[in-house]
Amino acid sequence: MSSRSAATSAAKPAAPGVLVILGASGDLTKRLLMPALLNLACDRLLPEGFAVVGMGRDELSTEEFRARLRTDIAKFGTRPSLDQERWGWLESRIHYLAGDFDDAGAFTRLRTLVDAVGAEVGAAGNTLLYLAISPDFFALVNRQLDAAGFTRLPGEKRIIVEKPFGRDLDSARALNKALLAHWPEEEIYRIDHYLGKETVQNLLAFRLANGMFAPLWNAMHIDHIQISATETVGVETRGGYYDRTGVVRDMIQNHLIQMMAYVCMEPPASLDPADVRDAKSRLLSSVRMIAAEDVADACVRGQYGAGKKADGSPALAYRDEPAVDPQSNTETFAALRLHLDNDRFQGMPVYLRSGKSLWKRGTEIVVQFRPDTAATTGVDPAGGAAEGNLLVFHIQPFQGVEIRMQAKRPGPLFTLQRAGMRFDYADAFDAARGTGYEVLLYSALNGDPTLFSRTDFVETAWEIVQPVLDAWAATPADDYPNYAAGTWGPRAASDLLGRDGRHWHEILNRDVLARTAFFAEAPPLVLNNLLPAFRPMAAAAGETIVEAGAYDHEMYFVCRGELEAISGDGSRLGALREGEFFGEMAVLFDQPRAATVRAITPCDLLVLDGDEFRRIVNDFPAVAAEFRRIAEGRRGGDGPAETGVADP
Ligand code: BG6
Repeated sequence: MSSRSAATSAAKPAAPGVLVILGASGDLTKRLLMPALLNLACDRLLPEGFAVVGMGRDELSTEEFRARLRTDIAKFGTRPSLDQERWGWLESRIHYLAGDFDDAGAFTRLRTLVDAVGAEVGAAGNTLLYLAISPDFFALVNRQLDAAGFTRLPGEKRIIVEKPFGRDLDSARALNKALLAHWPEEEIYRIDHYLGKETVQNLLAFRLANGMFAPLWNAMHIDHIQISATETVGVETRGGYYDRTGVVRDMIQNHLIQMMAYVCMEPPASLDPADVRDAKSRLLSSVRMIAAEDVADACVRGQYGAGKKADGSPALAYRDEPAVDPQSNTETFAALRLHLDNDRFQGMPVYLRSGKSLWKRGTEIVVQFRPDTAATTGVDPAGGAAEGNLLVFHIQPFQGVEIRMQAKRPGPLFTLQRAGMRFDYADAFDAARGTGYEVLLYSALNGDPTLFSRTDFVETAWEIVQPVLDAWAATPADDYPNYAAGTWGPRAASDLLGRDGRHWHEILNRDVLARTAFFAEAPPLVLNNLLPAFRPMAAAAGETIVEAGAYDHEMYFVCRGELEAISGDGSRLGALREGEFFGEMAVLFDQPRAATVRAITPCDLLVLDGDEFRRIVNDFPAVAAEFRRIAEGRRGGDGPAETGVADP
């Protein structure tokens, strides 16, 4: 087994070996494994002694299998153009055998083919067996592999297992038992594709190689951590799988808990696989189990109803998606509050959140530091109250790390403004984007298990989510669907943090803001100023946002939903819809609210507090002029009645 060190030199080709793919005619091979192998081949990271042997149920010859992959790679390759020479190199090393998993003879033929191919290319003695199959076949396929002698192959051998790894703690234990009956733990490589992402691996690099943060990495300095993985897509063609699964099993039990382990674990003693995996497992063992009676307070579930996609086109309700039960109780959104019972993070919550059909695609980890009130004495921070710094790990689609902080504004006065320092992967590295499977296959060939999950990790991750799954299964939700497709998710998710005196940091990107009509044409400098200043707010139907006569100075942008403006005497002045804003007049004309604004439907709003709004108005005269023009229209001759909008 090889070990890792934080090498700075260029990577060498992986160790010679044969990759055997069981279930090779399925989706995984064409979408991820072949593009990843081609990327490795292009980067000269596959050895000359390398071959692929696929086995699947489709009746194909090796020639037909190669031809099929040749068509697929044009579609699923991740590089701008196909490197024909490298593809030719790889294709000539691909072999195929048609066979049923319940046919013992097929596994004997497979063994003969693997031995022959290995000897031919000089790759014998290092065999990867990749189970690209449904877990329902694991037990059978492992028995067959064992009977055909694969467990006794001379040299190195490993079995690679895809998720889902079980559907609960008991089934995961049963799967582990079935695997461990044939393979020792060191030969079992359980994949979580998030660990193949550069930005996820960088979490470890960031923590271990940047000493300045190490002294701050504890509950004394960190208020809380948020880990969000939100998707704009619904379940698409995977309704059948998803309806049996839900977001806790699909994303939280694996991908989000993996990221939490990297962010929160104790620094491992070394980068040796055992040390890294021990540190991760210890962290999971420190997660406080959520008691059944606390699930309602600590966890939120949601299911999307009909709504809008990011491009504005209509989106189906989850229950109307193909292959989904029209009465389904499956959650497509979940948010959990966890606590870590260890010395470092005692008392500090970690919030996990993931969902489908949300307003934004993005995976981010936000580390919210505590404000240092002593240091800001006498200085008036932007936003009024002293705020802690944010450290944001942008996992995807934007890849980078960002620190949100306060900076002195240019000019003779000592005043502050929110600002950000951003490290963008694309500025620093010329790395071509891959599938994430490159590093996993490379590591597996080299016998490096660091990025793969061990039995104890997988089972503890199930233990953490099991009380949530049990509680939700026992009490079907009575409010589904409870969020519209294309929104920020159920209102209860904001309340979860609201009850703790916190809020989700909706990490805005310019493209998201540009969806609001007012900002579509805004210059980058304005957007850069607005992005860190906005605070998200989710309002329930019927909720009053501003009250006529009140002296407050926030300004609101409507991202999703509809509101109505009502005058002091109770008459309806008009409606406010997506892309519109309100609340600007109280600031522009320094007056009390002229109308009440109430949400008619659930609404997602972006809020600018009064100081920030005043600053934007001062700093950007063109923006201010546009606000004024609209505001004058509202209170002037062609006011509320004609614009349909009140002047709160
Ligand atoms: C998979 C889930 O594991 O991860 C999918 O089964 C999800 O439902 C996907 O869409 C997300 O992966 P990524 O890499 O796009 O964040």
